[in-house]
Amino acid sequence: MVMMSEIKHIGIFTSGGDAPGMNAALFAVAKTAQTYGIKVSGIRRGFEGLIDNDLIPLHANQLQRSMHFGGTMLKTARSDRFMTKQGQEKAAQTIQQNSIDGLIAIGGDGTFRGMLCLANISNTPFIGIPGTIDNDIAGTDYTLGFDSAVNTAIKCIDNIRDTAESHNRVFLVEVMGRDSGYIGIYSGLSCGADSILIPESDDDFTYLLNKIKNYDSEDAFIVVVAEGDDLGVDKVSAEIRKVNAHIDLRIAKLGHIQRGGNPSAQDRMLGIRLGVLATKALIGGESGQIAGFCNNKPTLSPFDNVVKKQLVDIELQRLLAIFCG
Ligand code: F6P
Repeated sequence: MVMMSEIKHIGIFTSGGDAPGMNAALFAVAKTAQTYGIKVSGIRRGFEGLIDNDLIPLHANQLQRSMHFGGTMLKTARSDRFMTKQGQEKAAQTIQQNSIDGLIAIGGDGTFRGMLCLANISNTPFIGIPGTIDNDIAGTDYTLGFDSAVNTAIKCIDNIRDTAESHNRVFLVEVMGRDSGYIGIYSGLSCGADSILIPESDDDFTYLLNKIKNYDSEDAFIVVVAEGDDLGVDKVSAEIRKVNAHIDLRIAKLGHIQRGGNPSAQDRMLGIRLGVLATKALIGGESGQIAGFCNNKPTLSPFDNVVKKQLVDIELQRLLAIFCG
């Protein structure tokens, strides 16, 4: 175990899909490290930068001025090269060459699985900060970027409702989330959607068919479809048309709009709290932990948990029966 005084140089990177709040976490890490006299290097483009030795010095006063931006000022990537043994060895060399004695990785489950591979060939202590709009990481109630993405989705769906109500149209709105229904259920319930389809629910499609059968075309009918839902918007549209061929239906895929934009207050605060927690954990000799937020408290949980996906829980799923059934 690395003792407090042993951490002199922290390397930090963002990897996978960017998420609003990542810049706030970078700021918090740099600020906390500064108070302990620890140097911080930003590794650009995630694992790609680790492979290419692409490092820049990070200073708290500079990051303070960019924490309100979405995206990540360190840039990010999905690295195929890191999937190879050669790529992982080059990454380990970069850590050694730069005398990095603590690593912080901000990203989703792919990033954390990457860190577990790196841990097989490098003894450098590491902490993960969950940053993904999908909210699908075990060890935290909320991931960085989820709240902002939901708020963006809500704004878009509210806009869609204005035009949908004006025309009495059925709208299928596809939201992001990969295999997770969190963005779908949060944005759908918050916008008063008539129907919400998420990968975790077995009953949602039955609710939709039952409702649409009796749809009288005198109002809008909004269906929020999580991108990871088994059917997907095109099949759902075809199934709806089987029930009623005359329905006036449009499809809107919100796409990457949900990932950009200024982070919400919640994501800025989450970034600050998780950045501080991760840095203090490294300084205190921890490794292989996720810095998360559980039951309203900053919490460390073992990295092995990331193999478990966080699914939309049963309490939320039950709301579908009340609001969409
Ligand atoms: O994981 C975040 C996410 O935005 C998912 O919701 C989505 O499925 C995916 O990334 C899109 O990835 P990319 O930007 O690489 O196309």
